[in-house]
Amino acid sequence: MDGGFKTILADPPWRFQNRTGKVAPEHRRLDRYSTLSVDEICAIDVASIAAVNAHLYLWVPNAMLVDGLRVLEAWGFRYVSNIVWAKRRKDGGPDGRGVGFYFRNVTELILFGVRGSMRTLAPARSQVNMIETRKREHSRKPDEQYELIEMCSPGPYLEMFARYPQDGWTAWGDESPEDVQPRGQQHKGYSGGTISRVPRLEPNVRLDADFAEQLGTTLRQQYEAGKSIRQLTAETGYTIARVRRLLEQAGTALRPQGRASSSQG
Ligand SMILES: C[S@@+](CC[C@H](N)C(=O)[O-])C[C@H]1O[C@@H](n2cnc3c(N)ncnc32)[C@H](O)[C@@H]1O
Repeated sequence: MDGGFKTILADPPWRFQNRTGKVAPEHRRLDRYSTLSVDEICAIDVASIAAVNAHLYLWVPNAMLVDGLRVLEAWGFRYVSNIVWAKRRKDGGPDGRGVGFYFRNVTELILFGVRGSMRTLAPARSQVNMIETRKREHSRKPDEQYELIEMCSPGPYLEMFARYPQDGWTAWGDESPEDVQPRGQQHKGYSGGTISRVPRLEPNVRLDADFAEQLGTTLRQQYEAGKSIRQLTAETGYTIARVRRLLEQAGTALRPQGRASSSQG
């Protein structure tokens, strides 16, 4: 990488404490991408490739906010603000398909840091610090970020840990070359579109974990709105066992059998 980048966007492969959980990038079966420790991320010499006056947009998982601030400083920037990505459903409501140990996360954070002295560009003053879009595959960030950044910060632009090339940007990352198929992309069925009606499934077809999670969440919403497992079974054509499994995988608190939901009237 050459030096002189005035704006750097980075989405590091953060290593979560729970490396076997389904959210973890290196989950054995889902095998999304390899990760780095916070020390390893801090050790990347970003200072020598950034311009003297530069902006940094650093994605950080909610659980690792403190580590994010450490990395930002280690790279030679000081924290000044942040941008929230609010994940929305098609109907505009918060996308509750997220995960989280303490809360169900429907937001992700970009830390904004400055090196030296450089204000944001004039259009940034009317730019709100929020991106509201629907989400896509695991860890895939919204394309709207590029437009926002280009409006607020000057080039040359560098994206670190990039997966997909972007016009006008230098991309760096082990999955960024055009001939590399990002590993996470193998997991289809989680393309960002919401499912309003569930698809037909053959009884024994195996479901990709992300797809099962998405289906489960759709069923959960209907179940929590008052539908019974029997109704869901009739409507979807799935077996009772599959409906129960999908609901359980989506973390649904099942009602005692035979008990109608109070919201059903
Ligand atoms: C969180 S993902 C980036 C996702 C991307 N921003 C997107 O929206 O699709 C992190 C990326 O860093 C890559 N990566 C992991 N370890 C790396 C390393 N040591 N050097 C370069 N890239 C690495 C991973 O393969 C993965 O593509």
